[in-house]
Amino acid sequence: MTRFYATTPIYYANGKPHIGHAYCTTVADAATRYHQLLGEQTYFCTGTDEHGQKVQEAADQRGISPQQHVDELQATFRELWPALHTAPDQFIRTTEPRHEGVVQRALQQLWDDKLIEKRSFSGWYSTSAERFWTEKDLVDGRCPDTGQAVVWLEEANYFFLMSRFQQPLIDAIESGRMRILPANRANEVLGFLREPLLDLCISRPKSRLSWGIELPFDADFVTYVWFDALLNYVTAIGGYGAEAENAAVLGDGAASGADGLSSFETWWPKVCHFLGKDILTTHAVYWPTMLMALGLAPPRQYCVTGWWLMDDTKMSKSLGNVVDPLGLKDKYGPEVLRWFLLREMAVGQDANFSEAALVKRNNTDLANDLGNLVQRTAAIVDQHFGGQVPTLPEGRALSPLLQSAQALGRYLIGEDVPFEATASAQQVWPVDKTVDELKLHVTLADVMTLVQRLNQVLAQDQPFKTVKTDKDAAAVTIYHCLEGIRFAANLLWPAIPETAEAILTRIGWSGGILPLSKLTWGDLPAGAKVPKGGALFPRYKLEDGADAGKTADAKQKHAPIATQQDAPEVHIDNPIDYAQFMALDLRVGEVLSAEPVKKSKKLLRLQVSLGELGMRQILAGVAEHLTPAQLIGTKIQVLANLQPRKLMGMWSQGMMMLAETADGALVPMRPDGDAPAGSKIA
Ligand code: MSP
Repeated sequence: MTRFYATTPIYYANGKPHIGHAYCTTVADAATRYHQLLGEQTYFCTGTDEHGQKVQEAADQRGISPQQHVDELQATFRELWPALHTAPDQFIRTTEPRHEGVVQRALQQLWDDKLIEKRSFSGWYSTSAERFWTEKDLVDGRCPDTGQAVVWLEEANYFFLMSRFQQPLIDAIESGRMRILPANRANEVLGFLREPLLDLCISRPKSRLSWGIELPFDADFVTYVWFDALLNYVTAIGGYGAEAENAAVLGDGAASGADGLSSFETWWPKVCHFLGKDILTTHAVYWPTMLMALGLAPPRQYCVTGWWLMDDTKMSKSLGNVVDPLGLKDKYGPEVLRWFLLREMAVGQDANFSEAALVKRNNTDLANDLGNLVQRTAAIVDQHFGGQVPTLPEGRALSPLLQSAQALGRYLIGEDVPFEATASAQQVWPVDKTVDELKLHVTLADVMTLVQRLNQVLAQDQPFKTVKTDKDAAAVTIYHCLEGIRFAANLLWPAIPETAEAILTRIGWSGGILPLSKLTWGDLPAGAKVPKGGALFPRYKLEDGADAGKTADAKQKHAPIATQQDAPEVHIDNPIDYAQFMALDLRVGEVLSAEPVKKSKKLLRLQVSLGELGMRQILAGVAEHLTPAQLIGTKIQVLANLQPRKLMGMWSQGMMMLAETADGALVPMRPDGDAPAGSKIA
């Protein structure tokens, strides 16, 4: 049995949760659920980091004891996770006795093994980063991490002999035993390790900081907060003698052992740490060397995420630009927030946060693409098939587009079916591959390709029309669309768990979410009841002047369009604004040559002059409607700035605009009058 042990950073209990924290936990939650879909056993931990200077200062500012302060703050994190539909198996606090025991035992072992030494030390100390810097590290005399002031401190301290593990660490990364994703982050760590690795100060004198775990061999000192915090990943699964205490404290929630192994032996080899790029050094240098010194294996895998930015600047409490995830959750619901976080940000890269972008994601992906697909399909079932999944008629073929949708669905779950990515997606990967590489944004984009393909099927096969003349043809389309929806919902469950389950209910599937190995196209039973239901996702409108992010002062400025008093009578699907329209570079083109494309029934290859923009090769899917002779020498309308793409091994560098007539023929849009090639159309 393959397993997956996911951890989030344990969040500082010095302030309320913000969107960066919500992101980390949501990504880890979604990855955990994807591993469940892959048939793995999972264990998922999060928690709070409750010692150290920052926490002590936050408590001092509030005039309460650090313990009272962390007791209050940890609750805000603990309550947030279920509210965001994340489902950690364990919430660990570093002030729990079971964890303090682990830290002290680990310290004692390193001390006994002479891997900790007492030394006198001086350096520039940054309170904000809680660490010493050398003179050359400073930037303009300030802390290079936080930009805050530093002070010169001289004191005796205890040092972990980290330098001894430099080469073993390099070996672990280079051999792939420590897999750091995305790969550029592994290079960053290796780059850091090109300089000699120093020893690590792991104590703080109580005279300066009392809020920490006392060193077992010197009562005048407490443990450096990172040494303490990183060990939570071991405590949580019962390492270092925590197993019995875990069982007593957590009961059924404790990680369990397997195959005669302890819970630590079961889970540790399967660990995947999720963390932000700002805490890469602590996780990928301090932590593995600590583990090696303790005789344990370094972490198996890391997923290093980027930052949510506001106007290209990192959100931080000190800048006062943090976004409150609870505010957004209250306004749009947890599923929309999860969707936005997971779909908008490429794992590992930075992304700009804006409420406008969140609204757009909701309207485009959820309300339009997914919501409409489910709604339209279910409506036909309701109106024409007595509210029941239609029976597949014998001997009726699937339309080519429907076949490609089916192939895509089966390909996504890992079936070995030939599948060619077309139009909207340049490349599509099976889910197990993108999940293994932790490219969850790609997983979601690929599943949305299936959703879009199914919408194209509805648009092209027109079951709402054919049902009146050829009910069997409509039954084929609808049955397979329902299956496609079932596949898509199952595959989107890790991102939007409640919605996915609601969609399954809506299409008459009562078998629940299935591991991919049990997902079979064609299992949806004919005759299953498809209940009536309303829209799955409200559409939102961003009011003029309402801006991104600052949810606190933008309260309820967004109302679902449907309930707006001043909403226009017409319903516009996926409206775009003027700027988006102006982004389209539409031009008059003159077709200089046209010829059929070998082995393609549909494509014509055109050479088109766009005047000042030069020549373009355009592959147009019109061979069944137009002859080359009908095009050569004529003027057409071209979308000139469409991303070029390859079809049948040839580049298509623009799109010919066509209108579809009532009988399904395609006719070119032509300028009425003497507009020269290259003229702009707006
Ligand atoms: N307590 C330490 C972690 C110890 S783990 C043994 C800590 N806590 S934190 O609360 O400051 O940050 C936790 C996580 O939130 C980090 O991974 C950090 O990258 C992430 N984020 C904080 N701000 C962020 C954004 N603006 N965007 C995305 N994530 C960011 O560090």
